[in-house]
Amino acid sequence: MASFESRFNDYCTALEASGRRRTLGAAAAQAARPVIADFSHNDYLGFAHDPALIEAGHAMAQRYGVGSTGSRLLSGNLTPHVDLEQAIALAKGTEAALIFNSGYQANSSALAALLDAKVLGAEPLVFSDRLNHASLHHACQLMNVRQIRYRHNDMAHLRELLSAHHEEDRPKFIVAETVFGMDGDVLDMPALVALADEFDAFLYLDEAHATGVLGRSGYGLASGYMQRDGKSRGVAMGTFSKALGAAGAYVACSAAVREYLVNRCTGFIYSTAPSPAVIGAVSAAWERLPRMDAEREQLMRRAAQLRARLHESGFNTGTSNTHIIPLIVGTEEAALDLKAWLLKCGIVSSAIRPPTVPPHTARVRIALSLSHTDTQLEALCDALDRWKDREQR
Ligand SMILES: Cc1ncc(COP(=O)(O)O)c(C=O)c1O
Repeated sequence: MASFESRFNDYCTALEASGRRRTLGAAAAQAARPVIADFSHNDYLGFAHDPALIEAGHAMAQRYGVGSTGSRLLSGNLTPHVDLEQAIALAKGTEAALIFNSGYQANSSALAALLDAKVLGAEPLVFSDRLNHASLHHACQLMNVRQIRYRHNDMAHLRELLSAHHEEDRPKFIVAETVFGMDGDVLDMPALVALADEFDAFLYLDEAHATGVLGRSGYGLASGYMQRDGKSRGVAMGTFSKALGAAGAYVACSAAVREYLVNRCTGFIYSTAPSPAVIGAVSAAWERLPRMDAEREQLMRRAAQLRARLHESGFNTGTSNTHIIPLIVGTEEAALDLKAWLLKCGIVSSAIRPPTVPPHTARVRIALSLSHTDTQLEALCDALDRWKDREQR
């Protein structure tokens, strides 16, 4: 019988043959340094190296230690966790919040817990945007829930599907991102909320790429929407790993949902609480967001200018209307070629290929950050123009 290693190896060899083997790019990117600019990271506000945030993390580690030493239900429930949750709930306009070690963990375990048919009394119907993040699909798979997928950001299609299932006496969930991580477009919040109200559906919204960057005081697009007349509309999740420059995630929700998750969500119950250092940095970042309206406007203005320039050069940026700008080139080969070309020009970017994005929409993803300079943006445009020239020759 084949060894375990050879079976695992066969899997990767088959991927290699189809051109889809993934490799860790960090070493390559570092080898190519000094780079002129890095557009592959999600540090949208330039917080990851912010001295005041590093200091805040340091101070918290000095006071509470490097680790929280246990799950929140055992030894790990520290005042800074509770304080941060209260600050998040206040900002999001919800009764409560709960924090997690990562966005993937939050989605795959909190959404899974909420979809529990035994607790709901019937198997739920889950209406999902086709481009939702893998962690959201993972939760549905874990719970054996078949998703009813609507066309990306197409509220008319969602309405059609909700209407088609209206008569079914089953709890309904709508799951979507508020800024789509691979396309950089924004969810139509008012339209989605109106549908959720009309069809009495529970909202599960992922604000990973909106948190820090968009919405009221930068607290995400779902802020202010999650409660209606004292009644909860569902859950808004977001991460600390992107614009907040650190790691971890939150779920903003009603007090009842928080209580339920504390008792039912395995990714919360059986995981060591986030480290004090991370919580220190995140709390300082969270507190700073309301004072950054001008910076956020600047980021969006620069993104609009860059898109206009890229369109002039003949690039397809899809439906992007935020700081995330995909350069959709179609084939996987073209995406890899463009990424390699940019790297040769001293620019780090990410090639995103199926199955992460739909077939024939392979792309290079450009993520803008406040930390990018005009010179770096110029270097990016120049390198892209030269790639286009080479393509057209
Ligand atoms: C939309 C979305 N949700 C969740 C996650 C997972 O977040 P984290 O990296 O904190 O695990 C990501 C990160 O890639 C994401 O893009």
